[in-house]
Amino acid sequence: MTTLSGRKALITGAGSGIGRETARVLAQAGALVLVNDVSETAAHATCTAIAQAGGRAQSYTSSVADPDAVRRLFEQFDAEGNAPDILVNNAGVSGNGPTLELDDANWDRVISINLNGPFYCSREAGLRMRAAGGGAIVNIGSIYSTVAAPQRLSYCTTKAAIGMMTKCLALEWADFGIRVNCVAPGYVDSALTRELAATGRLDLAAVERRIPQHRLGQAEEIADAVLYLCEPRSAHITGHILAVDGGWTANGYL
Ligand SMILES: NC(=O)c1ccc[n+]([C@@H]2O[C@H](COP(=O)([O-])OP(=O)(O)OC[C@H]3O[C@@H](n4cnc5c(N)ncnc54)[C@H](O)[C@@H]3O)[C@@H](O)[C@H]2O)c1
Repeated sequence: MTTLSGRKALITGAGSGIGRETARVLAQAGALVLVNDVSETAAHATCTAIAQAGGRAQSYTSSVADPDAVRRLFEQFDAEGNAPDILVNNAGVSGNGPTLELDDANWDRVISINLNGPFYCSREAGLRMRAAGGGAIVNIGSIYSTVAAPQRLSYCTTKAAIGMMTKCLALEWADFGIRVNCVAPGYVDSALTRELAATGRLDLAAVERRIPQHRLGQAEEIADAVLYLCEPRSAHITGHILAVDGGWTANGYL
């Protein structure tokens, strides 16, 4: 399947986990993948894996939290003739801990990466997509875009905000042919989840009991949902938050 051939897809935080898998899946669908990550080594590793599988990818090291760096990144795309017509706002970090002990630096870090980053990238991408006559943006939200959890104030706040950003941009940019959607994963088997479990900040057994399907999601299952929302067959879908969570947010019980 080459449903994205001729398309250029920027994926932020694509050096690891869900972002890396999304890069692999979109490249397999024929897109030229613009792999962004704050870690140069991680971004290169994703590009190497894609090239070895016969796909096309280019590596771009910068932080989505820095508005000047994001501006320069898009200017580089312009200079290379690679303005993206697909943007996946994936880069994100967790923020766990009691709110009464949350310091300004930690709060600012999560807000800058998880919320400001998608705004900076969407604004730059939106300008180019409007000029090109359309595009697709997929934000990576979370179950915490719709339901809350204790001791995760900064994370839940940013993920709820990304859900609203999705809807605001979808209706503002519909006339430009730009679709904006959100994929909201539940707990996924990834480096981020493993680190939370290893440092005692997440009880994986309790999480699996709480999920109606009783298992974590796989990064590929999230990537496949992103792919669908980038493809022409989802042309009438915009402003939507798609839960890929094994039933977590449907579950009002134990
Ligand atoms: N893993 C889960 O269970 C889960 C569940 C729901 C939502 N999510 C969301 O999915 C997204 C990806 O999560 P993951 O589990 O794959 O995480 P991960 O930690 O495996 O990967 C995140 C990547 O983002 C990069 N990154 C961090 N800060 C950056 C910055 N400022 N600029 C550019 N890149 C940056 C990291 O270097 C890393 O490669 C995040 O938005 C996360 O909130 C994850």
